[in-house]
Amino acid sequence: MTKPRLYSGMQPSADSLQIGNYIGALMQWREMQQSYDAFFSVVDLHALTVPNDPAELREKTRRTAAQYIAAGIEPSRSTLYVQSHVSAHAELAWILSTVTGFGEAGRMTQFKDKSSRYGTDATSVGLFTYPVLMAADILLYQTDLVPVGDDQKQHVELTRDLAERFNSRYGKAFTVPMPVIQQDTARIYDLQNPTAKMSKSAETDAGVLWLLDDPSKSAKKIMRAVTDSEGSVRYDRQNKPGVSNLLVIYAALSGRQIPSIEDEYAGRGYGDFKKGLAEVVVNEFGPVRERALALLDDPAELDRVLAVNAGKAEEVANKTLADVYDKVGLLRRA
Ligand code: TYM
Repeated sequence: MTKPRLYSGMQPSADSLQIGNYIGALMQWREMQQSYDAFFSVVDLHALTVPNDPAELREKTRRTAAQYIAAGIEPSRSTLYVQSHVSAHAELAWILSTVTGFGEAGRMTQFKDKSSRYGTDATSVGLFTYPVLMAADILLYQTDLVPVGDDQKQHVELTRDLAERFNSRYGKAFTVPMPVIQQDTARIYDLQNPTAKMSKSAETDAGVLWLLDDPSKSAKKIMRAVTDSEGSVRYDRQNKPGVSNLLVIYAALSGRQIPSIEDEYAGRGYGDFKKGLAEVVVNEFGPVRERALALLDDPAELDRVLAVNAGKAEEVANKTLADVYDKVGLLRRA
């Protein structure tokens, strides 16, 4: 029996991934690659939707791929590749843009957030059509499941709508994918501003835990994380967003349940709790960091692995694209 297909990706938008990417996405990918036919991309075309330095973008792309592997994505089992290496992504995005409503694209909350952050002049058409490119990523591979954090849910829903619309207009070309969102870890918050999502493009560095940071730096950030004045280690998202966020991180990385962690720290202060969490984070990230840095020491080998996998991805993607071209009525080249 063939395994169901899984697709997901991340933007190479920083030198390091942050802990939200790790807990909200990578940990699930690592687990799910065992039972699914998984495709994971570094979506460099998406990263172009905001200003970038060319040399830095190339470096961030390698670094992101290295972190996937260091975190346990096996490039011999899963198809781990760079989006721009497979030209079908940009081509299908164009076709899908012709079945996407202008208003529909304008309702994407991430676009609304980002465009208000950057201002109209710095907001590109690419940022507007970003979700259409994401739909192309997913639909090219006849994807069944898309594991993401909850900020990407709306984009996966748009992808489903576009697939259904295209299939009913032109005949079935696409599998309609389902999002997979791990409810309890779907959103990791900023350590300094625990009601805002932790993000690679956060305003201040102090609230973000980077996978590739020096462990002692991460430990310091945890010790300085915003909590509250109550002093008890208790999960209450509404009234104790800081402590609740730290509990979610603790539970996700240690594989323990939140009540057992609450019990362990009952009657002890936040200092002890944070020390415990720092230890958990350093133990988890330390080896990932070492492996990623070792992989980055040999960029030629990393590039070779990415090229082999781009070849595998291309085979699947080109098949879907050819079918789509036929269905919409593009004349085949003789
Ligand atoms: P990106 O690069 O912003 O984030 C990568 C993944 O990490 C998740 N994530 C989080 N999860 C929990 N808490 C957080 N604070 C947090 N921050 C990020 C995201 O939900 C995501 O799963 N558009 C996508 C990339 C993309 C993609 C795709 C994803 C392009 N094509 C196709 C899936 C399928 C993005 O910008 O993710």
